[in-house]
Amino acid sequence: MNHLSLIVFNLMVFFWLFTIIPSVEGRKFHSPCKKHHKGSGHFCNSTTIFNILSFGAKANGVSDDSKWINFKWVYNLTIQGSGTIDGQGCNWWDPIKSKHISDIKPTALRFYASEDTIVRDITIRNSPQVHLKFDNSERVKVNNITISAPRNSPNTDGIHLQNTRDVEIMHSNVGTGDDCVSIQTGCSNVHIHHINCGPGHGISLGGLGKDKSTACVSNILVENSVIQDALYGARIKTWQGGKGMVKNVTFSNIEVANVNFPIVINQYYCDKVVCQNQTNSVAIKSVRFDRIIGTYSTQPIHLACSTDVPCTDIDLSDIQLKPFGGLLGGSQLQRALCWNSYGNSKGPLVPSSINYCLRKGGGGGSGSVHEMSRSYDEVC
Ligand SMILES: *[C@@H]1O[C@H](CO)[C@@H](O)[C@H](O)[C@H]1NC(C)=O
Ligand SMILES: *[C@@H]1O[C@H](CO)[C@@H](O)[C@H](O)[C@H]1NC(C)=O
Ligand SMILES: *[C@@H]1O[C@H](CO)[C@@H](O)[C@H](O)[C@H]1NC(C)=O
Ligand SMILES: *[C@@H]1O[C@H](CO)[C@@H](O)[C@H](O)[C@H]1NC(C)=O
Ligand SMILES: *[C@@H]1O[C@H](CO)[C@@H](O)[C@H](O)[C@H]1NC(C)=O
Repeated sequence: MNHLSLIVFNLMVFFWLFTIIPSVEGRKFHSPCKKHHKGSGHFCNSTTIFNILSFGAKANGVSDDSKWINFKWVYNLTIQGSGTIDGQGCNWWDPIKSKHISDIKPTALRFYASEDTIVRDITIRNSPQVHLKFDNSERVKVNNITISAPRNSPNTDGIHLQNTRDVEIMHSNVGTGDDCVSIQTGCSNVHIHHINCGPGHGISLGGLGKDKSTACVSNILVENSVIQDALYGARIKTWQGGKGMVKNVTFSNIEVANVNFPIVINQYYCDKVVCQNQTNSVAIKSVRFDRIIGTYSTQPIHLACSTDVPCTDIDLSDIQLKPFGGLLGGSQLQRALCWNSYGNSKGPLVPSSINYCLRKGGGGGSGSVHEMSRSYDEVC
């Protein structure tokens, strides 16, 4: 990046908006269409350029807050068109230039407490951090969108879901420096399919349970997708000390190519060199990895479950992972790692060491795990 340039730059956020129904709240801008009462069925079609600088944004990597285009309490909103939202994020990515803590970098496009939202056909690129975020929302459809940012841009998640239910994300290309799709606490009934993901950190649940928080995630289905040139593929990560539960998650028919860690459950997620081990953990139950096929570049499978609360009812079937570039290219290849994970596996399983990954039975034998899981269930 050229540090001398970009003293002044013009941040144009532009996209074509069709079919806006209710009120729109942005960075203190008003909808280009007239405000309507909820569900009045009054439609407006427009081609709109939002220049967020004229709404008070500075776009200098220093003084803007956490969101740029923010839709709050909107119902039945569709954003559709062939336009692009360009976040021009490089000022934020530079660790020296940007003194920001990551939390207050702007999200390019965010929906809060909204229902029946559709985002389709648009492109979102180079956001300072998250590109498209849904918070406290219900009934979301994302279709045929493109999200892109450089592979080394920090924390630039593609699509971020939090406390959001009944979501379908499909037929889209997402390649950034972080998760293609990130699913956080409070999400349920999320269906992701026909996604092309990479570069980036794959499709992730978590990190959940940070600072002893409670996390609840259930009924997630990721299928018929491709993950390539990515650090992770299908991943669940939790911090130690959390409470709650992740349950009923399926990753099915995922083609991976040159993915460092295609299958990951990590209950020791940690942002320091060493984190203290703790007994509490977000429980993980009923997770299926089915038909994950392709190439890995570091470790085919990494299931590091909590020592005190094992992962239960884990299913591995038809996993066929070969080293990227063949065995010769693999001096840094690691063997499968599996710790305290219970469930069933069904062939074909390649490499064959995956055969011995899961422990049989319900986890623990004493019944204590089941009791613990039940009590966690009540938390959610
Ligand atoms: C949103 O659309 C759905 C289906 O078209 C309709 O049933 C619902 O009443 C609408 N909600 C609002 C708030 O307009
Ligand atoms: C807006 O565009 C949509 C799709 O092109 C069309 O179906 C609808 O009739 C248009 N509405 C108005 C008010 O022009
Ligand atoms: C997907 O979006 C592009 C615009 O980005 C559009 O040209 C194309 O027709 C859309 N495809 C479908 C199937 O809607
Ligand atoms: C598991 O999740 C899927 C959707 O991902 C849903 O169709 C199914 O009903 C859920 N199963 C249970 C037991 O809740
Ligand atoms: C935490 O527990 C794991 C699994 O038993 C172990 O590998 C690791 O060394 C422990 N870490 C610390 C800091 O004790």
